[in-house]
Amino acid sequence: MIVSIDYDARLGNTSYEAGIVSNFEACYTGSTTYQKGRVIAAMKNCVAVISALQEEIEGLKDRLTEHTSQTMAGMEIHFGRLEGQPTAAVISGVGKVNAALCTQLVIDCFAPCAVINPGAAGAIDPTIEVGDIVVSSAACYHDFDTTALGTPPGFIYGMQTSCFPADHSLQLLAAHHARERVGENRTHVGLVVTGDQFIAEAAQRQRIFDTFGASCTEMEGAAIAHVCWKNRIPFVIIRAVSDKADAKATESFGAFLARAMPDLDHITEQTVVGWTDSKQVDRA
Ligand code: ADE
Repeated sequence: MIVSIDYDARLGNTSYEAGIVSNFEACYTGSTTYQKGRVIAAMKNCVAVISALQEEIEGLKDRLTEHTSQTMAGMEIHFGRLEGQPTAAVISGVGKVNAALCTQLVIDCFAPCAVINPGAAGAIDPTIEVGDIVVSSAACYHDFDTTALGTPPGFIYGMQTSCFPADHSLQLLAAHHARERVGENRTHVGLVVTGDQFIAEAAQRQRIFDTFGASCTEMEGAAIAHVCWKNRIPFVIIRAVSDKADAKATESFGAFLARAMPDLDHITEQTVVGWTDSKQVDRA
């Protein structure tokens, strides 16, 4: 069961609405931005599933039992259980800032035990086809550019790393469930590159492939990975390839979103459940 609380850190005052609280950790926030407000208490050991678009999370949301929702910072957060596993399914909005804001908010308020980022992507590796699944081995930004200062492309100036590795167990699980669902030939594990650009030009796709050797591109994954890495939360990106990041990308993306999400929903759900089982996470 999920309960609501009113939280006011400024006053140091937390009051619970009628409900059962024993199974839940109280929501906390280290952020001044959310010092005062009405939030939903954290579900013990929840997995956060963060996607940019409603279409990318709709199927999963519909499968939540004990479903309830809340809007925070303009983002819809859906709570419930997937096969008994407490899950928060969140629509972040498109792009790196929306994704980073959402991820930190979810981590601060709900302390998830893992973060999964499902969605669509454009293929960068020319051997990857529309409908294939890419599971991240790591993620980085293709549009972070301080090369004028002598750094390599994508390098984040002043940070220890610019390439955020996925949690290995999550990666293996997601790839396993992808293979089961769409087959070995259509499952890829590789680098996901992120930027605030919808790539729809063959020359740009080629440049990104030559520079990064990436499997696919999208607009949120590395920002989510970056925030998870800073907070030491395991994460993985699971993307269904909607287009080939070329002149036909816009048309292909639109057609794909409507029909191909069931594969992604299934793989994500199996990964949530499998991961918490393997970690023997307490689902109470
Ligand atoms: N998401 C799906 N296709 C994409 C593309 N071609 N570029 C960026 N993000 C995408």
